[in-house]
Amino acid sequence: MSKQFDVLVIGGGPGGYVAAIRAAQLGFSVACCEASPYADPKGEPRLGGTCLNVGCIPSKALLHTSHLFEEAAHSFAAQGISVGTPKIHVKTMVGRKNTIVNQLTSGIKGLFKKNKVTLLGGLGAFVAHTEGGWQVKVGDEIVDAKQVIIATGSSARHLPGIAVDNKLICDNVGALDIDAVPKKLAIIGAGVIGLEMGSVWRRLGADVTLLEALPEFLSVADVDVAKEAAKVFAKQGLKIELGVALGEVKALKKGVSIAYTDKDGNEQKLDADRLIVSVGRIPNTDGLNAEVVGLKLDPRGRIDVDAQCRTNLTGVWAVGDVVSGPMLAHKAMEEGVMVAELMAGQSGHCNFDTIPWVLYTSPEIAWVGKTEQQLKADGVAYKVGKIPFAANGRALGMGETTGFVKMLADAASDRILGVHIIGANASELISEAVVAMEFGAASEDLARICHAHPTLSEVVHEAALACDKRALHF
Ligand code: FAD
Ligand code: NAI
Repeated sequence: MSKQFDVLVIGGGPGGYVAAIRAAQLGFSVACCEASPYADPKGEPRLGGTCLNVGCIPSKALLHTSHLFEEAAHSFAAQGISVGTPKIHVKTMVGRKNTIVNQLTSGIKGLFKKNKVTLLGGLGAFVAHTEGGWQVKVGDEIVDAKQVIIATGSSARHLPGIAVDNKLICDNVGALDIDAVPKKLAIIGAGVIGLEMGSVWRRLGADVTLLEALPEFLSVADVDVAKEAAKVFAKQGLKIELGVALGEVKALKKGVSIAYTDKDGNEQKLDADRLIVSVGRIPNTDGLNAEVVGLKLDPRGRIDVDAQCRTNLTGVWAVGDVVSGPMLAHKAMEEGVMVAELMAGQSGHCNFDTIPWVLYTSPEIAWVGKTEQQLKADGVAYKVGKIPFAANGRALGMGETTGFVKMLADAASDRILGVHIIGANASELISEAVVAMEFGAASEDLARICHAHPTLSEVVHEAALACDKRALHF
């Protein structure tokens, strides 16, 4: 006899576990299957997916520790604090990170119990369409569900000829468990992971070189932000080589040797103790038996969905990294909630125009909406309000004067089209812009809102005022 549920969620990452909880809150009987134990000592499946186990949370824990280390080494003295030369005990840093991961992943098991979501251990693979819905094999069991939400996420893309062992040559999994500060660290790909993980190890003393194929740095970000970031990261000692073409990558007895052609066409060689490969991620669709039930994929191998995350199969939905859109945990969660609410007949929605991006480097980088180069390409007339953190009293007090807030508003309607921040606490500051844009606010609306003094949020306020050329403190 098969197990029967209203809803089966395949995958227990942020897209899947949130969809499962929301569906249960709405009265469905729900099961969620997850195959991966990650680093669970008992080998039991763990919830939280990439984000909690080998992504967002562990990387931010390491970024925090390494930030404190750098502050102690380089910023304390200017404020009259002497602590001597700080030392890093990498095992403790990684152990603390693991404790946080364990706490959060087991917390989600607790949330499943509280919301009566059944956790099934094992890979979910479609078996057949039935009269009442879908039959899915989970491990050795057969599950019948009226509706299925696929939330199988993504895995690191690897490059041909570069064998990832997650010791010497790491993807995100090994990169979060490096057990000693490498003297020389090479990173292939100067994207989000490369910059965050490069920052961690550079702060702790590694000589870090990033090799990036594209000729432009951080081309997803606003052009001014990318320029400022390149300047700041270079000053910090992060070496970023753009426009490289990789040649042979050889694992040595102790380290790795990378041959490449630089942007000027010269043959180069980079030797390093460790290598991180961070060249994007690929959707996880392999184990699903998609072809058996005719589940449609798009040309990039992602599950093909409409704007409400419906697949081509009735009653089968897909959310998160396995579908199109930015591979971000909060995007996956939004989609999970939307799908659960749509299944319940509610008007769930996900506004893909107001999904914020954050890079947790120092300074942090965050944005929402259109970049200046996108507006130019779209032929939209816009105005710009740009204010440096150096003009803000709180930033001065914190010793965090690098960067700026740049607001882009429609020249005719004044509606905010994009906000781009590079500076301290950008990850938190961006929320105000997201809320404003979600409600279709104009720069004038933000300009008329009282912002606490002294706070970094005043830089956002001043940027809104600057859109109308009436900044008060710059
Ligand atoms: P996942 O989190 O990948 O979860 C999918 C789950 O499904 C996995 O646990 C997998 O084992 C399971 N699964 C796969 N196939 C099956 C199957 N057939 N049956 C059962 N289970 C299956 N995003 C942010 O927003 N902020 C950040 O700061 C951030 N930092 C990151 C740092 C790193 C190093 C990495 C790698 C990613 C980071 N991300 C960040 C991205 C974020 O982790 C992903 O966008 C998010 O985890 C996607 O959620 P998901 O539920 O779609 O997929
Ligand atoms: P990415 O797409 O951000 O960056 C990959 C980089 O590698 C690109 O710049 C690309 O041009 C480069 N590249 C590709 N092939 C190459 C090659 N052969 N040689 C040299 N360079 C090459 O992908 P990344 O950093 O792997 O991260 C994956 C995703 O995970 C991100 O896109 C993001 O969605 C998510 N993430 C989000 C974080 C956050 O929100 N703070 C943090 C980390 C990851």
